[in-house]
Amino acid sequence: MTIHRRRLLKNGSLALAGLTFLNQGLFADPLPVKSGFRLPGSVIKLSANENPYGPSPAARAAMLEAVTHSNRYPWDVTTKLREKIAAHFGLAKEYILIGAGSSEILGLVAQHAASLKGNAVAADPTFGIWWNAAEKSGLKIHKVALDAQKKHDLAAMLAAINNETKLVYVCNPNNPTGTVLAPAAVKSFIEEVSRKTLVLLDEAYVEYSDLPSMAAMVANNKNLVIAKTFSKIYGMAGARIGYAIAHPETIRELNAYQPWANAGASAVSLAGALACFGDEAFLSSVKQKNREALSLVYQTMKELNIAHCPTSTNFLYYSAKEFKGDLPGALQNEQILAGRIVEEKEKWTRISIGTMDEMKIYTAALRKLWKTV
Ligand SMILES: Cc1ncc(COP(=O)(O)O)c(C=O)c1O
Repeated sequence: MTIHRRRLLKNGSLALAGLTFLNQGLFADPLPVKSGFRLPGSVIKLSANENPYGPSPAARAAMLEAVTHSNRYPWDVTTKLREKIAAHFGLAKEYILIGAGSSEILGLVAQHAASLKGNAVAADPTFGIWWNAAEKSGLKIHKVALDAQKKHDLAAMLAAINNETKLVYVCNPNNPTGTVLAPAAVKSFIEEVSRKTLVLLDEAYVEYSDLPSMAAMVANNKNLVIAKTFSKIYGMAGARIGYAIAHPETIRELNAYQPWANAGASAVSLAGALACFGDEAFLSSVKQKNREALSLVYQTMKELNIAHCPTSTNFLYYSAKEFKGDLPGALQNEQILAGRIVEEKEKWTRISIGTMDEMKIYTAALRKLWKTV
């Protein structure tokens, strides 16, 4: 064995020992479920749309190695990652901005829009995590109800835009509903709206769907920002790394709201992202496993006659209106951490798709709870 390999193994096992310790302490994370068996007291986390399989093997190895180099600023890795992402979309690195998760990107865009004074138009419900901070900075949020299929109502959103509108947010696929808009509809909406104001397109879940990215549209459009993340299909939510794709002039505007441009992500996260970006074999294996586990949930919902939205993501939106009482609480009693009730009237709620073993436990819990209906 070479000294280098021995050192790597030693570092790796130290890191693994550390992870075991963290699992028991710092992270209130679920213990792994194997073949339907889980340790007493362990909780299945199906509340945050995380990839339950974790980062790719290449990302894990790169992150372990990067720990050793964490004394240095990772500028070269940042540049390589921006180049790699840009090349994938046929762009130059100046079109890419790195953030600590795509929520940082959403925040930067909202801050920029707020500085222009006015309102933002967004669907409801959608991923509104950035709303509070935006409102604090003076941006009014004009919420437009989803249509009957729980998709963005693009016509109503267009009608809601006025002279004071500084931002229009579209989440496709939409969180929490998992519904998608057809690419042609998104494209023409962006073309029309971006003539008047800035469009923020959130593609956090696009890789789970069969939708194409709209990235190419930024080449000639300064009024479009696309937010993307390594937190979902890439399995790196805890690493906190995401990015924006936009015209270089727009990127420069957004950079100005970062205390240090492109410097929010750690050397470890950057190394992991660089190692796994565009790893088609990994992406399609996660997508496939997600589809299999999802099909069990679909089947159960059909059997129990539970209304739900067909999803293009790793989560499912369904109505618990038949269930009398507090469904998230009842699931928690079954050691399952699920989403909250989003729409009170028909008790629409969201469940993230975990592993097949986790979904066997979840669907068994649903069956048990629906028996009492
Ligand atoms: C639609 C959408 N956008 C963005 C994010 C932010 O993710 P992150 O900050 O981890 O990249 C999430 C997280 O759940 C999301 O659902």
